[in-house]
Amino acid sequence: MYTNLKRVLKKADALNMAVGAFNTHSLEMLPAIISAAKEQGTPVIIQTSVGTAQYVGHKNLVAVCKTMAEEAGIDVVLHLDHAKDYEDIKEAIDAGYSSVMFDGSSLPLKENILKTQQIIEYAKNFNVSVEAELGIVGGTEDGIAASADEVRYTDPQEAAEFVKQTGIDALAVAIGTNHGQYKSKTNISFECLKEIKKAVDLPLVIHGGTGVKDEDVRKVIDLGIRKFNVGTELLVTWTKKSKELFGETPENASLRNNVVPCIRAVNQVVQKKIKLFKNLD
Ligand code: 13P
Repeated sequence: MYTNLKRVLKKADALNMAVGAFNTHSLEMLPAIISAAKEQGTPVIIQTSVGTAQYVGHKNLVAVCKTMAEEAGIDVVLHLDHAKDYEDIKEAIDAGYSSVMFDGSSLPLKENILKTQQIIEYAKNFNVSVEAELGIVGGTEDGIAASADEVRYTDPQEAAEFVKQTGIDALAVAIGTNHGQYKSKTNISFECLKEIKKAVDLPLVIHGGTGVKDEDVRKVIDLGIRKFNVGTELLVTWTKKSKELFGETPENASLRNNVVPCIRAVNQVVQKKIKLFKNLD
């Protein structure tokens, strides 16, 4: 069923697992992600940047997610990732997104709280979940970069104050991960995550999931991570596969010959991630 973030994270919490939140860059990536979740029998979060939502069309994304959720018989959430403007968030909610992230992490705490409250006020009318971020995650995403100097780990006391004043559904934490890190893996501060978890009682979100070591996945889930964002690894998989294929296929061959193998390759990566997030063994 097409549902919101709060609902799937509540179920994940009861099972001590994380739900995979996979960034899609096109409509064609959706079947790769949703079929993988179906094969693994888990809920899934599809997330798009504001740029992808505008390019594909918000309503197109909503319609396809709804149809695929029904066909696959699994819970699917459509989430707007890293939106910084009220108007972008309103546009997604009005089109039918079931979850949004307001990223006010670069703002002073007071302003972040005020803007997040404003978004929650609007979102609750539509039963839309809201994720927010405190601290600054490193790396680059959709052209927005945070340099090593700008990175700031989430402060547990600030997090407690923020959660109390806003009533958000999930909190994205900065604990050493970086967006877009795919050539190396990162060192996570488990100590910082532990302190945040002690200070706040709500589902935590990890960004920059591509750069997280497989062996760290279970550790962070045991410390309260319930939403696991992965984007770059899917993008790199798709692009590598399509480079390989487009160089070889005749110009007049059906596009399907190139697109379907990319879908299969991404499906395999997503299934591998979901197996880790299920936290079974
Ligand atoms: P990666 O692209 O590094 O996996 O991060 C995804 C993400 O955090 C989306 O917000």
